[in-house]
Amino acid sequence: MAGIYIHIPFCKKLCFYCDFYHVISAGDNSLFIDALLKEILLRKDYLGNETISTIYLGGGTPSVFSIKDLGIILNLINKIFNVAKDCEVTIELNPDDVFPDYLEGLKSHNINRLSLGIQSWRDSDLKMMNRRHDSAQAIKSLNEIINAGFENVTIDLIYGIPGLSLKDWESNLDFSFSFDIEHMSAYHLTIEQGTVFAKMLEKGIISEIDENDSAAQFNLLIEKAEAAGFIQYEISNFGKQGYFSLHNSNYWKQVSYLGLGPSAHSFNGYSRQWNIRDLKGYINSVQSGKNFFESEELDKKTRFNEYIMTSLRTMWGIDLEYVERMFEKEGYDYILNLAGKFRKYGLMKLEKNSLVLTNQGKMISDNIISEFIMTDEE
Ligand SMILES: C[S@@+](CC[C@H](N)C(=O)[O-])C[C@H]1O[C@@H](n2cnc3c(N)ncnc32)[C@H](O)[C@@H]1O
Ligand code: SF4
Repeated sequence: MAGIYIHIPFCKKLCFYCDFYHVISAGDNSLFIDALLKEILLRKDYLGNETISTIYLGGGTPSVFSIKDLGIILNLINKIFNVAKDCEVTIELNPDDVFPDYLEGLKSHNINRLSLGIQSWRDSDLKMMNRRHDSAQAIKSLNEIINAGFENVTIDLIYGIPGLSLKDWESNLDFSFSFDIEHMSAYHLTIEQGTVFAKMLEKGIISEIDENDSAAQFNLLIEKAEAAGFIQYEISNFGKQGYFSLHNSNYWKQVSYLGLGPSAHSFNGYSRQWNIRDLKGYINSVQSGKNFFESEELDKKTRFNEYIMTSLRTMWGIDLEYVERMFEKEGYDYILNLAGKFRKYGLMKLEKNSLVLTNQGKMISDNIISEFIMTDEE
């Protein structure tokens, strides 16, 4: 079992918070597509003979691509790799790219999971974030997706954004759960260096949300999602039973994946690779046979840290049996010793043979995770 991630690095407009690698789309994608097809061929052996159980088209904005272009990419993947019949195939969509014909086209290529970037239902937030769509378009596109009969639909929301009160967030959540969706990713805004928001913050045009307000919005999210029948299987991810993202869950379970396109990451159990974050450089290097990625062999400490960082964010937590098997007594004792104080303060609990964060612990998950990270001195 393995996954494939394809990074489509084009956007029509720059969202002020976004740090994902993207360029403003110039309309002609042919040079990129040629390079991507070549990369698929170059890296066909990366996953050995593993069956592909998930494919994820992310970005950037994959929905700026025509159905024909998506088909060219997916057809080659299906030809080169051993893709499972029931493969989960996800695409990220921006609301203003959604039309009934487009949705039919997605179906014709067996794309069976749609991820719609709503971010907020409030026009003032969408404007402030410089989104392309407005709330009317978001409502229309989500209805069209549901009416088209897609069974696995997820939306993205952002909270903790400047000016969003608890009441506003509550109505965003209530409105989201009034649709027949199976999954939701809700991210707390991170003000990333180099983004327009970072500049606006520096100039005092926006300010960061108060910590107590952040915590209240996070708590409300957990409460409302649970009441609507969603399970929080990862800090930012909520799904109905049977609809957790298989692709992302596999990342967190250390399953191998191949990342294609500029900035995409790959993992094969013992090393990580990341493609260069530069569209022209990527195209030129792939086409001229130059190196287009960097890689790192993962030593035991790095693997341990990665396991902690991902597992502790999920409902499955740190599996102590896995830790003992992979990191021996040293790793096992290290974790149990550290967990003591967090358990004492009700931030962590032992469930069966796993250590998981409590709701209180989830609020400060980054701090807790950082305490578990092994440094060179350990
Ligand atoms: C690859 S991005 C965008 C996908 C798609 N192009 C869109 O805009 O809807 C995936 C998601 O990450 C979230 N995201 C991106 N930057 C973020 C930030 N700085 N803070 C919080 N969430 C962010 C957004 O919810 C976004 O939909
Ligand atoms: S949030 Fe999506 S549409 Fe906006 S810049 Fe980022 S990748 Fe592009």
